[in-house]
Amino acid sequence: MANVPEKEQEKEAVGRAAAKLVRDGDIVGLGSGSTAYFAVVALGERVKAGLKIVGIPTSVQTAGLARQLGIPLTTLDEHPEIDITIDGADEVDPQLRLIKGGGGALLREKVIAAASKKMVVVADSSKVVPVLGKFPLPVEVISFARTVVEKKIVSLGASPKLRAKPDGSPFITDNSNQILDCSFGKITDPAALALILSDTPGIVEHGLFIGLASIALVGHGDRVEELRP
Ligand code: A5P
Repeated sequence: MANVPEKEQEKEAVGRAAAKLVRDGDIVGLGSGSTAYFAVVALGERVKAGLKIVGIPTSVQTAGLARQLGIPLTTLDEHPEIDITIDGADEVDPQLRLIKGGGGALLREKVIAAASKKMVVVADSSKVVPVLGKFPLPVEVISFARTVVEKKIVSLGASPKLRAKPDGSPFITDNSNQILDCSFGKITDPAALALILSDTPGIVEHGLFIGLASIALVGHGDRVEELRP
């Protein structure tokens, strides 16, 4: 597993490699998190150099970054079909099933990934796992339903923990919801779990991304490995 400076190098390498996959005229989904950050910065450089794209950000934070960098933004209403999305992940398995949402942006990230012709995952080497589940699965809930959803998650064998801000108050997503970080241990059947969670009233979205990633760019030092499902 990469140490911290090496991790940063890997994130930058994959972010830059992913930004090169964007073509003139593309509608681009702009991911969130510390790895997608490098892709957005590299895209900003390409825009300054003349690349014509419009971006759809997956979070308020990424929207701010893109504006600072001069990347023109649009909305899903104006452009419901996205050419390419570049986004990070908390875990990636060999079939390119993902856990996402460590930064809390999973809902918009999933909507944008699902609306994309191509989703490019960018990840440092520590994110690749044989089986998903070591990283607690983020589950976005409406606050009204939190306790019943917690009970449901406990019945599925996991321990949910309400995500909190440093001051102890609940973390609130860009969509005004809360997040339960759910430690499932090994998720041996992610598709089955995804269906159960999607079918639970009060859960707005969960961080299992299945069948959405087209390719993953994984950093190994300054080398970039391409993984396909
Ligand atoms: C944001 O909600 C997440 O889905 C991120 O894409 C994920 O947490 C990866 O973030 P890092 O690149 O910061 O590890």
